[in-house]
Amino acid sequence: APLAGVIGMPIAHSRSPRLHTHWLARYGLRGHYVPIPVMPEHLAEVLRVMPRMGFVGANVTIPHKEAVLTLADTVTDRAALIGAANTLIFRPDGKIHADNTDGYGFVANLRQNAPEWSPDKSTAAVIGAGGAARAVVASLLDSGVTELRITNRTRLRAEQIKAEFGARLVVYDWAQIGNMLEGATTVVNATSLGMEGKQPLRIPLDALSPGAVVTDLVYTPLMTPFLAEAQARGCHIVDGLGMLLHQAAPGFERWFGQRPEVDDEARRVALE
Ligand code: ATR
Repeated sequence: APLAGVIGMPIAHSRSPRLHTHWLARYGLRGHYVPIPVMPEHLAEVLRVMPRMGFVGANVTIPHKEAVLTLADTVTDRAALIGAANTLIFRPDGKIHADNTDGYGFVANLRQNAPEWSPDKSTAAVIGAGGAARAVVASLLDSGVTELRITNRTRLRAEQIKAEFGARLVVYDWAQIGNMLEGATTVVNATSLGMEGKQPLRIPLDALSPGAVVTDLVYTPLMTPFLAEAQARGCHIVDGLGMLLHQAAPGFERWFGQRPEVDDEARRVALE
């Protein structure tokens, strides 16, 4: 049976094994999906051996998402632009193909859960400039956003993203975060603020339009304080779990030959 898994460190808390195992059972497919803890100094060796062990591919998570780009034989344009990969395909000859499906997952989640969302020719606001923010920025630009505002506690990281992604980006100072929301129809928290055990993301929402779609990449808890406040203002909110589910679908299809459905049952399984 074909093998796939998720490579990271730590990896015990990953929801991916439950999700993929659920999809395998649901579609009656042969295969296994396992968590694989790998230290950074062992990544190259593990990737070389996995195809010979029967692995057809893998997901990659922290801290390896950047390093796999240098170890892969081929890298998609979007993974190169984002500077990270989350999905690997092992070819029959052992060659490694690296892709990034995070941006796809981000957009697919909004399209599924906010059907009125229409990014084309709109203004978006992204809070945060880490690895996850880069995938969000790439996918929003692909979706036709004309102005993409970005802010980050460490301003330099936002400026680096602008330098790489270009003219449609506007960097706002972290102190100007409230002003960034005016006229934005997509608002994204791509920081880790709001996660269980961390401080909430607290920003003045007075300028936020009630017509905006507001989403958070944090999904523990599903309802972050930021989303709760946006909802209280009448915004359409979308939690971050769907991005996790949707980013998993292309890999599953490539490895096991069946496009899996992201539905309530998949959500429930990932939360168990
Ligand atoms: P990820 O891959 O999840 O994006 P990351 O690259 O470590 O992880 O990025 C974390 C993001 O959360 C960054 O935007 C970070 O801001 P800095 O670049 O200034 O570190 C943001 N973040 C984390 N803790 C924060 C805090 N206490 N206040 C403001 N921003 C914070």
